[in-house]
Amino acid sequence: MSDKKVIAVVGATGAQGGSLVRAILDNKNAEFKARAITRDVNSEKARALANAGAEVVEADVNDLQSLVKAFEGAYGAFCVTFFWEHFSAEKEKLHAKNMAEAAKQSGVQHVIWSSLEDTRRWIPLSDDRMPTLQDKYKVPHFDAKGEANAFFTDRHLPVTILNTSFYWENMIYFGTGPKKGENGKLAITFPMGDKRLPSISCEDIGKCAYGIFKRGSEYIGKTIGIAGEFISGAQMAAALTKALGQEVVYNDVPPEVYRSFGFPGADDMGNMFQFKRDFEKEYIAGRDISLARKLNPDLQDFGTWLAKNKDRIPLE
Ligand SMILES: NC(=O)c1ccc[n+]([C@@H]2O[C@H](COP(=O)([O-])OP(=O)(O)OC[C@H]3O[C@@H](n4cnc5c(N)ncnc54)[C@H](OP(=O)(O)O)[C@@H]3O)[C@@H](O)[C@H]2O)c1
Repeated sequence: MSDKKVIAVVGATGAQGGSLVRAILDNKNAEFKARAITRDVNSEKARALANAGAEVVEADVNDLQSLVKAFEGAYGAFCVTFFWEHFSAEKEKLHAKNMAEAAKQSGVQHVIWSSLEDTRRWIPLSDDRMPTLQDKYKVPHFDAKGEANAFFTDRHLPVTILNTSFYWENMIYFGTGPKKGENGKLAITFPMGDKRLPSISCEDIGKCAYGIFKRGSEYIGKTIGIAGEFISGAQMAAALTKALGQEVVYNDVPPEVYRSFGFPGADDMGNMFQFKRDFEKEYIAGRDISLARKLNPDLQDFGTWLAKNKDRIPLE
């Protein structure tokens, strides 16, 4: 089995990286094996990955040398940053730079960089429809990733830039699921008007990444965007109503109201939804559901995902 190609996966105990590790482990006869990267090889999640058959190694995205070591001898590297751990666009860029440099120094043959658009291409800082955040960003967790693309391309790495989409799992882990309003009705709340939100199950992100690695050089040097469905708030509420067996309504709020909700990162999320609303056509044009399905034939739409996961969504 030693002739299998190693894919080194950053964020392996998390959502995106974890889904890629599972996709590799689920295909035991395939040409790849998974090297799971974690800061703590003794954590419960890391031990579970080792028990499932992954090689588990330690590295920290703050520490270039630890990444070089973790990538060494690997064929591929999956790189992702963790904005919601620190809320800092500058840190996110530093971490992306470290991963790009580690990929260069270790000579991996294929890098997937999990990215998002730099929204300033559409909304320059001078556009005051939304506030500028962290001094030089409109949507910090998008803009930093988009800006960081250059760390990979300037080093002439064999990279596929993978633009992901909003996870449906946010309804389970990130508080975006239905909540009871003052009228006692369950509602999902976000400022998208009647526009469609490109979204996906994060399990499918890993499976699509696996599909990219499996296709060898086909997607090297390319930027691709994936989603499971383009779905409006009203359509999401209707699907939730059907799956949960109780009425869920869509509560469209103005972006400035969403930005004022007060949870950490509400301003960034408010700007993000506003960008997706105001540039629906352009944002959707950057994502291709049929390509995602080609890479991952198991790709789910929201209804399919809900049928499997509705009981995991916490309801008050
Ligand atoms: N939520 C969404 O809808 C969505 C959609 C598109 C893109 N994104 C982006 O996805 C990214 C997060 O990915 P995710 O959801 O897969 O994250 P996640 O589930 O929160 O995973 C985080 C994992 O990263 C590891 N980690 C954290 N800090 C680290 C460090 N300093 N060095 C090495 N590893 C570290 C942790 O592993 P250990 O504790 O084992 O070290 C943890 O398990 C964010 O940048 C976000 O903007 C999110």
